[in-house]
Amino acid sequence: MAGGAFSNPSKARHYEGKVTAFVLITCFVAAMGGLLFGYDLGITGGVTSMKPFLIKFFPSVYRQMKDGLGHQSAYCKFDNELLTLFTSSLYLAALVASFFASITTRILGRKPSMFIGGLFFLVGSLLNGFAMNIEMLIIGRLFLGFGVGYCNQSVPVYLSEMAPTNIRGALNMGFQMMITIGILIANLINYGTAKLENGWRISLGVGAIPAFLLCLGSLFLGDTPNSMIERGQHDQAKAMLQKIRGIQNVDEELQDLVDASEAAKKVEHPWKNISQPRYRPQLIFCSFIPFFQQLTGINVIMFYAPVLFNTLGFGDDASLMSAVITGGVNVLATLVSILCVDKFGRRILFLEGGIQMLISQILVGVMIALKFGMNGEGSFSKGEANFLLFLICAYVAAFAWSWGPLGWLVPSEICPLEVRSAGQAINVAVNMLFTFVIAQAFLTMLCHLKFSLFFFFAFFVVIMTFFIDLLLLETKNLPIEEINKVWRSHWFWSKIVPNDVSTDNYYHKTSP
Ligand code: BGC
Repeated sequence: MAGGAFSNPSKARHYEGKVTAFVLITCFVAAMGGLLFGYDLGITGGVTSMKPFLIKFFPSVYRQMKDGLGHQSAYCKFDNELLTLFTSSLYLAALVASFFASITTRILGRKPSMFIGGLFFLVGSLLNGFAMNIEMLIIGRLFLGFGVGYCNQSVPVYLSEMAPTNIRGALNMGFQMMITIGILIANLINYGTAKLENGWRISLGVGAIPAFLLCLGSLFLGDTPNSMIERGQHDQAKAMLQKIRGIQNVDEELQDLVDASEAAKKVEHPWKNISQPRYRPQLIFCSFIPFFQQLTGINVIMFYAPVLFNTLGFGDDASLMSAVITGGVNVLATLVSILCVDKFGRRILFLEGGIQMLISQILVGVMIALKFGMNGEGSFSKGEANFLLFLICAYVAAFAWSWGPLGWLVPSEICPLEVRSAGQAINVAVNMLFTFVIAQAFLTMLCHLKFSLFFFFAFFVVIMTFFIDLLLLETKNLPIEEINKVWRSHWFWSKIVPNDVSTDNYYHKTSP
């Protein structure tokens, strides 16, 4: 997800050093954090469409689904608040935990935060896998949410601080890649376990394996040099840097880390800073980008694809298979984004992605309207069902090379040091909040808005595409210290951002 709290893209100097095996192992373990987030995102959709699971925990949904108890419409067959709470409670817990996580990460270090996150994941997965009642299920989800809050805070910072500068950008996007791989693994496991008696226990419990690896790894791995410096352990920081870079002479990089840490300490009021007019663009983007990212409607697919496909008349197996296909497209398109983002820039990906999402959403809405109408009665022929799946894949691909990774990258790279921690916190909090809202509201919205739900999200895609086109500057290759000058040349931001030379030079003054 976001770049490290104190990494500075503009200072991408090439220090000596190699990509050592130690760094690779470190990154592998840390990447488990991204994988776990993705796994927990993707696993619920399949599980909530499995009959034994519904019969055990949500018998009324099962009856409603089977014989439409009281509801005439297929659109409403999964509409149940407890069922959505099972999915959404995680994001509320993540929102709360991310505030504590930022304090732990700063005071105790990145490593303890990752360990705590891993432990939460472990307990949550076990509670879910062995769940005997709905309480165990929801409490397990809350634990998983705390894990997400802790890991989303510490893992990206850990990764970017451990990595040599020349692969830092790729790693930033790599975290998003791990999320999509986690979602795909979840889809595949659901596909396999759906055929087993009580397969849902395996689906929910398997998350314990990467969680265990993360815990174990974070016990044995060292903390980052940055974190050691932040906590006054200079000698240990030097030894660690020598170890991870695989060379003895690390003085230059060490000095830069010490200077960056001093500069960060001078930043006393990141919250006050970000509310000043000169940081209005950062405040607006860090709030609206995560809001819009969720209003694309992507998590309707990520959380509820099997339920949605089931609602549209796909059989159980076909529904789970379709989720595997969209999960695969998600991974591949994220790779496309990683390869293109520094070549074509952020704006073009945002705009193309927006237009492609819009077209596919409208076509999906129209197809469902024509077949299912208002009362939800109908079915698709095989050819129509395949075309619908193709449209959903086109939509997922568009998201995965635009708003998916860029929703995390852009907020992190437009914030200069003095507002970075505040900007980052807003971005994560808004994202989790609206992930929760969409997860909680989707099944009810589907029941009431019916096929127009797709037009609802399409409407927001239009707004967000204009928002980017009119307000976002290209940040490709833009040194962070230039950013305030560049806002001053923009037709809109020049009216808002004061021409304050001292701000433009802030980083020069505080860095070597
Ligand atoms: C979003 C998640 C989403 C995922 C899908 C991420 O960037 O923040 O909400 O589920 O992409 O790949």
